[in-house]
Amino acid sequence: MRREVKRGRTLLVDGPASVDHFDGTVEVLGARVEEGKVVIREGKRVPFMVRKRTIFNIALGEGASFEEVKGSTIPPSWEDAIKEIKVCKRPLTVMVMGEVDSGKTSFCTYLLNRTLRMKWKPAIIDADLGQSDIGPPGTIGFSPITKPIIDLFEIEAERAYFVGLMNPSQAMHWVIEGLVRLNSSVERADLDLLVINTDGWVSGEEAASYKVGLTEKVLPDVVVGMQEADELTAILSTLKETKTLAVASPSAIKKRSRGKRKILRELGYKKYLRKAKVQSSPLNWVRVERVLMGTGNIPQAERMERIREILGSAPVYCEEMPTTIFIVSRRGSWVDEEQMRRIEEASGKWVRVIRDGEEEGLLVGLHDETGAFLGIGIIDGIDYRRRAIKVFTPVTKKLSTIRVGQIKLDKNGREIGLSQALTESPS
Ligand SMILES: Nc1ncnc2c1ncn2[C@@H]1O[C@H](COP(=O)(O)OP(=O)(O)OP(=O)(O)O)[C@@H](O)[C@H]1O
Ligand SMILES: [Mg+2]
Repeated sequence: MRREVKRGRTLLVDGPASVDHFDGTVEVLGARVEEGKVVIREGKRVPFMVRKRTIFNIALGEGASFEEVKGSTIPPSWEDAIKEIKVCKRPLTVMVMGEVDSGKTSFCTYLLNRTLRMKWKPAIIDADLGQSDIGPPGTIGFSPITKPIIDLFEIEAERAYFVGLMNPSQAMHWVIEGLVRLNSSVERADLDLLVINTDGWVSGEEAASYKVGLTEKVLPDVVVGMQEADELTAILSTLKETKTLAVASPSAIKKRSRGKRKILRELGYKKYLRKAKVQSSPLNWVRVERVLMGTGNIPQAERMERIREILGSAPVYCEEMPTTIFIVSRRGSWVDEEQMRRIEEASGKWVRVIRDGEEEGLLVGLHDETGAFLGIGIIDGIDYRRRAIKVFTPVTKKLSTIRVGQIKLDKNGREIGLSQALTESPS
């Protein structure tokens, strides 16, 4: 479809769509866009601000649409924030906070594009687990930005920290650890600006104290709070030592349903699981982190015999920790409450039971011997007898550490749900 748009107007396109343009001058979130195709993912909106009369060629996918609006959809307060940031001492760190769907990612993109145009060297850490653009969902990613960007999703993470959950309230400790590690690994001498995007969990006391905690650990020079009304006031007013800038959430925001968010995350998994194959690693060679298994010992013969007797047959695997006994039952069978109670009585320990195969589909983060993140994978299975773990992953390098997450996926990268089957300390 051909569409001519006059100077000073904005064309808003909602994906899935692709847009070509010619004969004009167009800007997207502070980036001048040369001629060529822009692909817009489902659930995303791209604002094309027309600086000089432009002809667009729009191809819409299912459920996609577009509209034309007067003026720019960038709030004047974003421009004010740029002016304030511009005069700050460099290198500086700017942390962006705001509700879900408040425009955080778009503001980060705008800030990166505008500073690139000022010949700054910017970089980003994306700590929004659920809707992460840099790195796979469930990870915190870092990347320097060297050219104008329309969609941060196109940028590959140069470094990342795997969390394995998408809800920050279940993973506060790990998000803080990951953010602190990545932040301290960034060489400031090569940078003018580090932008840190955060998750949308900001309302309520717990969320606010977590966000204040993040700020205290990372010590950004500026915190930008995106808000429609005063959602961020409670957090911003607590940050007495940090420069804070409240900016407006754009009125052209396109809110996303839970379903659309899931689709966007699944695009993320797919991107990082492309060309995956099953790779098997002996459990004696790799460290499997964040799991109960491997932290204890095989029970003594007498205890093993007692467990076998109570269960009626030998379990696939059994391990004893100081306060817990971890049992993997056979695929077709289930250990009932009465059997668990009897083992607990006989051993004086808690019993944790999972079924053989329950680990299949768990999202994992893979690391080399230096601790560097190599990519993600999905557990294909644990062979307890041969002591090997099989992971479906595109990573071909030798694995040193496998960090187990709680997100469960099928082989096509579709989210099945959460599982604490192998997790160290279920909450
Ligand atoms: N100034 C703007 N003009 C037009 N559309 C915008 C603008 N800012 C954001 N949007 C659109 O609104 C949607 C939500 O914005 P964005 O992704 O930046 O929010 P977010 O706070 O990062 O959301 P999430 O919590 O999902 O990460 C996106 O599709 C984005 O392209
Ligand atoms: Mg975002």
